[in-house]
Amino acid sequence: MSVPPTSPAPAWLRVPDDANALDPRIWPASATRSADGVVSIGGVDVRELARTHGTPLYVLDEDEVRAHARRIVAAFETAAAAHGAAVRVYYAGKAFLSTALVRWVTDEGMALDVCTGGELEIALRGGATPERIGFHGNNKSPAELDRAVQVGVGTVIVDSFVEIDRLADTAARHGVVQPVLIRVNSGVHAETHEFLATAHEDQKFGFAMAQAPDAAARVRAHPSLRLLGLHCHIGSQIFGVAGFAESAARLVDLHARLRAHGDLPLLNLGGGFGIAYTAADDPAPIEDLAAGIVAAVADECAARGIPVPDLAFEPGRAIVGQAGVTLYEVGTVKPVALDDGAGTQRLYVSVDGGMSDNPRPALYGAQYTARLASRSSDAAPALSRVVGKHCESGDIVVDHEYLPGDVTPGDLLAVPATGAYCFSLAGNYNHVPRPAVVAVRAGTARVIVRAETIADLLSRDVGAEGKA
Ligand code: LLP
Repeated sequence: MSVPPTSPAPAWLRVPDDANALDPRIWPASATRSADGVVSIGGVDVRELARTHGTPLYVLDEDEVRAHARRIVAAFETAAAAHGAAVRVYYAGKAFLSTALVRWVTDEGMALDVCTGGELEIALRGGATPERIGFHGNNKSPAELDRAVQVGVGTVIVDSFVEIDRLADTAARHGVVQPVLIRVNSGVHAETHEFLATAHEDQKFGFAMAQAPDAAARVRAHPSLRLLGLHCHIGSQIFGVAGFAESAARLVDLHARLRAHGDLPLLNLGGGFGIAYTAADDPAPIEDLAAGIVAAVADECAARGIPVPDLAFEPGRAIVGQAGVTLYEVGTVKPVALDDGAGTQRLYVSVDGGMSDNPRPALYGAQYTARLASRSSDAAPALSRVVGKHCESGDIVVDHEYLPGDVTPGDLLAVPATGAYCFSLAGNYNHVPRPAVVAVRAGTARVIVRAETIADLLSRDVGAEGKA
């Protein structure tokens, strides 16, 4: 029996009319291809970037980050104002955090969400105002809680009964009253354009809805804690309002019940707003999401005859995702014949990075696009797979793309939409040092996180005898 032919490429992938084009839904607004065919970002030629800083290289467009931050803050402020509510928009640092980034987003009016002691220290070093930091995590250590309380973090989002008591003791020891939110699972789980609602979420974060009243009572019983309200995050890379609206309905119901027993000024609905990675992705404009979500909250409040609480949101990916482009140099090119019965070939294009600088394809099956960046080409587009240099066949950078068929060693490839969860998820598999991050703006480039070196890797390895 012969194996039925499988399609070598997903249905959404089209042979491009122009394999040199930079789709403005995916690339930073500043990305252009000059008359000589070379891509520039933030006014800086990618060949110049590669020459000066090496490859792989994370390139982050500062103006693009700032523009997304401004637009998203404005969208939520407009939406909240329409219902007489105040709003605070936190940048979710897990998407990408460095001191420069903290500066940019706080300049643009954002507060900051961190979820470990390490993220907290970067936020503080970057100049974030402690009162405008929210501290998340399902297993914050006593030392992390102590540091958060000591520096005056504005909100701690508590995640378990154990943590409520631990935080209360910590705050009492410091002689302060610590404001807290209670993280709950609304039972709504959303990914992209679909959502699923269940009575019980089988996952590690937060309190079940049914436990939330006990958690609130426990917080309120501690004089060193002040309950501000509820927090819920339903997922990431979400394209539409429906999941948020369903979650808001459940949360407002709980909010109304808890409000009957005391002050509850705030409701934090988390992050999760999606971006386009490929032409197949079509997220709703953030203004529509903001208006739709806030309207859903307001409707639920009106139905219960309660005022709309102050609101908070925590976008990460939507702030930085589109601002990042990763540059790689092509090392080898290899045509591979496919068993599709049609004689199709796939061009394996190996680059000098891979799953160490972007593990998302390996972790989530994430799809990206790529463009030849150091030149343009009129060669016929070839079905290609961009792969890394790691010892693993799942080390894929771009699973499916049509690249010009003459792509060759020494060419630079650029992978857009890599600003979120690439640098922050990067690792050292195969002892590959992590790339630098270079910020580009108005024709200039500056290193904001230096590249790791082999010396850095060697310096941690203290040898068979150990040291100290
Ligand atoms: N707030 C909370 C409590 C979160 O857990 C997250 C993300 C966010 C905000 C920000 O979500 P965003 O707006 O960035 O979607 N590593 C995965 C994403 C994990 C998201 C975890 N939490 C990825 O690469 O797709």
